[in-house]
Amino acid sequence: MRPPAVMYWPATDTAASHARAWMRNLLGDVDGIDIEDVALVTSELVTNAHEHSTAGQSPDGKVRLTATCGPKRLRVEVTDEGGKKIPAPRCPDADDLGGRGLVIVDALADDWGHCPDPETGGRTVWFEMVRREGPGPDDLPRGERTPEPSGPCYLG
Ligand SMILES: Nc1ncnc2c1ncn2[C@@H]1O[C@H](COP(=O)(O)OP(=O)(O)OP(=O)(O)O)[C@@H](O)[C@H]1O
Ligand SMILES: [Mg+2]
Repeated sequence: MRPPAVMYWPATDTAASHARAWMRNLLGDVDGIDIEDVALVTSELVTNAHEHSTAGQSPDGKVRLTATCGPKRLRVEVTDEGGKKIPAPRCPDADDLGGRGLVIVDALADDWGHCPDPETGGRTVWFEMVRREGPGPDDLPRGERTPEPSGPCYLG
């Protein structure tokens, strides 16, 4: 298990791009994780911290990002400064411009949730990604003809 990596940013509209860059850099050498999925989900949660918690309303509001990578799972936590709203996925119509952040989080993360952060009085929204195993049945050879089986072969 790597020690958790922690970073703070001002809760402004640039926090999400800083968070994406930080996450890509942090996970550059980690196997079995789709870094772009992690960056996208992180970005949605950091944007929400800025848009929906009180952190985005005060000039010194901050968002904390924590990433912990174990052998089986990556866990990311985004902690804001709390407020009256509660994270809850919306059901946007096809022509609605927004309201898809947590829908994307729910689709890409293996698990996610939120809880109060007792230390700061804020709220933590977290997600986890399961790390893929090493070479497995998906790793078909590319650019080569699949060898003929020497005997009868059945799919399934
Ligand atoms: N960190 C948060 N703190 C409090 N409420 C939140 C937080 N994150 C999300 N929410 C609530 O959950 C709702 C759904 O969030 P979601 O990210 O899916 O949509 P959105 O932020 O409204 O729109 P979009 O992400 O498309 O810009 C928000 O509208 C907000 O009411
Ligand atoms: Mg959002």
